[in-house]
Amino acid sequence: SPHLVVAVDGPAAAGKTTTCKALSRRFGLGYLESGRTYRIIAFEALRRGLPPDNPVNVVDLCDELLRESREQDLLTSGRYGSADLRSPSVNVAVSDVARIHELRKRVTELVRLWARHQGRCIVEGRDIGTVVFPAAPVKFYLTASPEERARRRLGQEGGASYEEVLADVVRRDEADMSRAVSPLVPADDAIVIDTTTMDLEEVLARMGAACERRS
Ligand code: C5P
Repeated sequence: SPHLVVAVDGPAAAGKTTTCKALSRRFGLGYLESGRTYRIIAFEALRRGLPPDNPVNVVDLCDELLRESREQDLLTSGRYGSADLRSPSVNVAVSDVARIHELRKRVTELVRLWARHQGRCIVEGRDIGTVVFPAAPVKFYLTASPEERARRRLGQEGGASYEEVLADVVRRDEADMSRAVSPLVPADDAIVIDTTTMDLEEVLARMGAACERRS
């Protein structure tokens, strides 16, 4: 297992990406956004007219993409822009692909391989501290009220209104928390931070202190 993995999980728009990027700079850690891989699969399924909830189609697609590209590409490829990966249709389709157990196994293996090469890294997602790296020495579960998360996300998702962003956040939380495989849940040993009334500096101070203590 890798030397140091900081695992960061939590619901949509809880501030995982912003805090992970800041911590990765501060502590010199490799950074991986695991949701990006699920989004790439969802985007490619839609582009090819494949049903994103069909396990056979989606797993075949994943294997094809893995054959076509180097493994790292599915994790970190700059080929896809945020307009591709964060569109409303991908936001919906990604919940479907993320439910497919065989796909999750492949993505989990890719993330573990990446982390082994990195050594010291911070990885964000939904199942990083529970399934992907259950032995990670530092785990965070970031959350905030849905209303606050929708406010923070507003303006990042094209021209969507506050009500549309809130509805998408609530729908994705429900899908991620209720699925049978790797549901979104805090790891037993995760440090849970409710950031609803905290500003970014406070959150980073809490997370940074825990990283120093535990690594
Ligand atoms: O983090 P992001 O919001 O980009 O993730 C998009 C979706 O990918 C999540 O709503 C979730 O369904 C799925 N995902 C997952 N496991 C991860 C990361 C993301 O199921 N580790």
